[in-house]
Amino acid sequence: MMKGLKKWRLFSLLAVMMVFLSGCGEDYLSTLKPSGEVGKQQLNLLLLTTVIMTLVVVIVSVIYLLAFLKYRRARVGENVIPKQVEGSHTLEVIWTVIPIILLLIIAVPVVTTTYKFADVAAMDEVDEEGNKTALTINVTAKLYWWEFEYPNQGIVTAQELVVPTGEKVYFNLKAADVKHSFWIPAVGGKMDTNVENLNKFYLVFDKESKDLKDGVFYGKCAELCGPSHALMDFKVKTLSPDAFDAWVDAMKATEGQTADKASTDLGEATFANSCLGCHAISGSGAGGTPGPNLTTFGDRNRVAGFLEHNEESLKAWIKNPEEFKPGNLMMNADGTAPIYGNLSDEEIEALATYIMGLSVEK
Ligand code: CUA
Repeated sequence: MMKGLKKWRLFSLLAVMMVFLSGCGEDYLSTLKPSGEVGKQQLNLLLLTTVIMTLVVVIVSVIYLLAFLKYRRARVGENVIPKQVEGSHTLEVIWTVIPIILLLIIAVPVVTTTYKFADVAAMDEVDEEGNKTALTINVTAKLYWWEFEYPNQGIVTAQELVVPTGEKVYFNLKAADVKHSFWIPAVGGKMDTNVENLNKFYLVFDKESKDLKDGVFYGKCAELCGPSHALMDFKVKTLSPDAFDAWVDAMKATEGQTADKASTDLGEATFANSCLGCHAISGSGAGGTPGPNLTTFGDRNRVAGFLEHNEESLKAWIKNPEEFKPGNLMMNADGTAPIYGNLSDEEIEALATYIMGLSVEK
């Protein structure tokens, strides 16, 4: 009976692991299917160290088993004293030199690659006119969303990072409140975003994301930061260099875009009264608004980073954000109502239509 139960337990564990690991092969999310120079080299390091460690475990296990089976008392007799090898020079040399060699094989590529990926000197390079040549993005992690500011282009967006393929993209990473961590599993990373200092690194994006499952790579917060840490997702849209330039121009063209409190469109008027205080709808300018910039909301892939991208989700979210993302900053201090108050169903309906219409790609 017990034996049967144990077998069953093992089987369920394996079944759960199968479901869990089945996510590993997806190219929009998988560290094992990297789409860029950084991720590829990180995977190579992972494979190298895994092979060496496996080799060590196998060899040690084999020696252990051999000794265990060959030299049992039942086999060699009661009064046998094995050959004494204490202080053997040969053995001491062997078990000192082999680990040193193995550690060197691991350490040399790991250390050189780590320094290479931390080389951000190109961030300061300028052309003849004094313009920075490298694409730099300032990432700010906040409870529980992401802001992406492009200082050299003078634009800002949130929740969906847009980058060109085929060039090094440099990141300045920081957090506005508590420590988070910026991670795009299929492209490389991760690196912490801290409140007290700036972390810098670069990534390379090889593949246009439009052919992926949702047309985007998935990004994650990889540092436990609060009750909605697991929901602190972002997406990454990778475009050809030409398409990226067009997107930047479209973002710049939204300069000065705002909502009118006196608008005859109920959605726009409600937005102006209830949302505009925290959410900008112009992608031109700098970041730093209390809430995510919504200029490209209609082009995004998710509502609040993880809900399905449709008006139904958006309406439910506006009605009660706390239900979906506990601890988010859209609620008042005691967590009883959104800071914009309880809007009527009619207002929420109009607001959802208005926000879904915000787009630079359509
Ligand atoms: Cu932010 Cu976890």
